[in-house]
Parts: sequence; structure tokens; C-alpha cells
Amino acid sequence: MQTFWDQRFAEPGFKYGTTPNAFLRGQAQAIAPGATVLLPGDGEGRNSVWLATRGHPVLAVDYSEVGLAKARRLAQQAGPEVDARLRTQWVDLAEWTPEPASVDAVAAIYCHLDRSIRRDAHRRLAAALRPGGLLLLEAFHPRQLGRPSGGPKDEDMLYTLDDLRGDFAGLLDERFGWEGEVLLDEGPGHQGAAVVTRYVGRRV
Ligand SMILES: C[S@@+](CC[C@H](N)C(=O)[O-])C[C@H]1O[C@@H](n2cnc3c(N)ncnc32)[C@H](O)[C@@H]1O
Repeated sequence: MQTFWDQRFAEPGFKYGTTPNAFLRGQAQAIAPGATVLLPGDGEGRNSVWLATRGHPVLAVDYSEVGLAKARRLAQQAGPEVDARLRTQWVDLAEWTPEPASVDAVAAIYCHLDRSIRRDAHRRLAAALRPGGLLLLEAFHPRQLGRPSGGPKDEDMLYTLDDLRGDFAGLLDERFGWEGEVLLDEGPGHQGAAVVTRYVGRRV
């Protein structure tokens, strides 16, 4: 899968564009000014660089070296102050344990993990939040299977709201949970009507 992502991101342009994800944009006012944000599976950096332009120190982690390098370049193009706020780190989320209680927010946008690793990885990400910190997540729902608008073609990598409630039980208080259809316009990779799951939880 890592090679798959490196190959995708080696193509010219940005697979999901350079505009931040709409759900993240809509929720970003809930992240306090100056709060630190961890972005797992950040890809080519559209979301981390946008948060850095808003003044947040951000840590973008991914297992695609190509994606991380593009995120770095995007931040450099946005100027030295933005670039200084972005840290990038190569990690495999199947194994990586972020420092517990080290960040104020986690933004997991289309960070699709296989069912065999998803729950443990999600719990480690939630544990990285300081008490009161927010986790925001958007991912494709199993009902997205067969649609051409984007997402994994494997049901084990798609998330229901109940999956997420189980993953974060005892760690996060749900603030918002929703499954439904949205119209995606995110680069060539996410285009058209799609079924997604959205979740916001606050660290207890
Ligand atoms: C669909 S892309 C989304 C990229 C970005 N979040 C966005 O919305 O533009 C999924 C990303 O998750 C990363 N990823 C998937 N599995 C991973 C893992 N086990 N460890 C680290 N990164 C992973 C991929 O390399 C890819 O960058």
C-alpha cells in the first residue's frame, strides 16, 4: 500500500487538490488559536498546510515519503512562517504510538486503515490528545463501495459511525456523528456524490 501511495503521489499535480477538506474547514473554528494539530495520513499536505497558514503548529505523519515531500514543498511555497509551523514525520500508523497527551487536536481526513489495525491505531491517536482535545475524522462509508467518486475498493477499509464509536469508546465523548451523502470536489481523486462518515470527539 505504501508503494501504491508513493506511485499515486508521484503523478503531477495534487491527487486531492490543495484546498483543505470541507468538513475540516467547517470544524476548524472549534480548534483554539495556536493549538497543535496532528494529521495522520496527511498525504500531499493540503490540510496540514492550510492549518499552518491559520497559525497552528502541525505534525503531518504519513508512510508515503513522496506525499510528505510534497507537503513540505507546499508549505515552503506558502512562506517561511507557514513552513516553520509544519513538522513532517514518516510513520506507519499500524505501529506508531504518538506521545500520549501531546497534541490539542487530531484531524484524520480520509486516513483509511484496514479493519485489522484500525481500532488500535485509532485508540493510539485519541490517546495523543490532551484532555479536552478534539479529534475530527472524515472517511468513506461502506455504502461508498461501487461509486466512482473515490475511496478504497475494500469494505474492510471503510468506516461506519458505529465502527468509530467502538474504536473511541472510553477515550472520546462524541460531539458530532453523521453518515450520509456529500458532494466532493477535491482534486481528481474525490469528485462527485459520495457516502461518508463524519465524527468529532472530545478527549475525556
Ligand atoms: C486517501 S489519502 C488522504 C490524504 C490526505 N489526508 C487528504 O485528505 O488529502 C490516504 C493517506 O493515508 C496514508 N496512509 C494509509 N495507511 C497508512 C499507514 N498505515 N501509515 C501511514 N500513513 C498511511 C497514505 O499514504 C495516504 O497519504
